[in-house]
Amino acid sequence: MEKTFLMLKPDAVQRGLIGEIISRFEKKGFKLAALKLLQVDRGLAEEHYKEHKGKGFFEPTVQYIMSSPVVAMVWEGKNVVALAREMMGATNPANAGPGSIRGSYAMDISRNVIHGSDSVESAEREISLYFRPEEILTYQKPGEEWLSE
Ligand code: TYD
Ligand code: MG
Repeated sequence: MEKTFLMLKPDAVQRGLIGEIISRFEKKGFKLAALKLLQVDRGLAEEHYKEHKGKGFFEPTVQYIMSSPVVAMVWEGKNVVALAREMMGATNPANAGPGSIRGSYAMDISRNVIHGSDSVESAEREISLYFRPEEILTYQKPGEEWLSE
């Protein structure tokens, strides 16, 4: 089953949005495969955002991501990479649909509450940055036949 990496950023943790955001993915029908609260250090932050190295927002973004604990998660489900991005909304909350996570809970691009992998390849890379293989769990939940054929 397809997997994605999602991270509730420091602002989501500080603002008490952990449960509310996780609840959206649970209700969608996706399955949680791994979860941890952690403090991101500089090495991990720079590796996470390395595609943006050299851009003006790189250093502020690295600082922000290290500024408080984050919730790192692996979610699985049909087409979960693209659908989770859809649920998150545009990078800039000003352009995110009102029903999306960023549209509902954020107003500024530098504090946009959630990270989600942008492709299956990014998901594999990001999952391996934050989790060891044995931390990613496989289990059954009732009613899975009501989520897809
Ligand atoms: P990006 O990978 O473009 O967005 P996304 O998180 O939707 O994949 O950028 C990574 C993060 O960098 C983004 O979530 C917020 C921050 N950022 C800024 O602060 N300013 C900017 O102009 C951009 C493009 C991103
Ligand atoms: Mg990105």
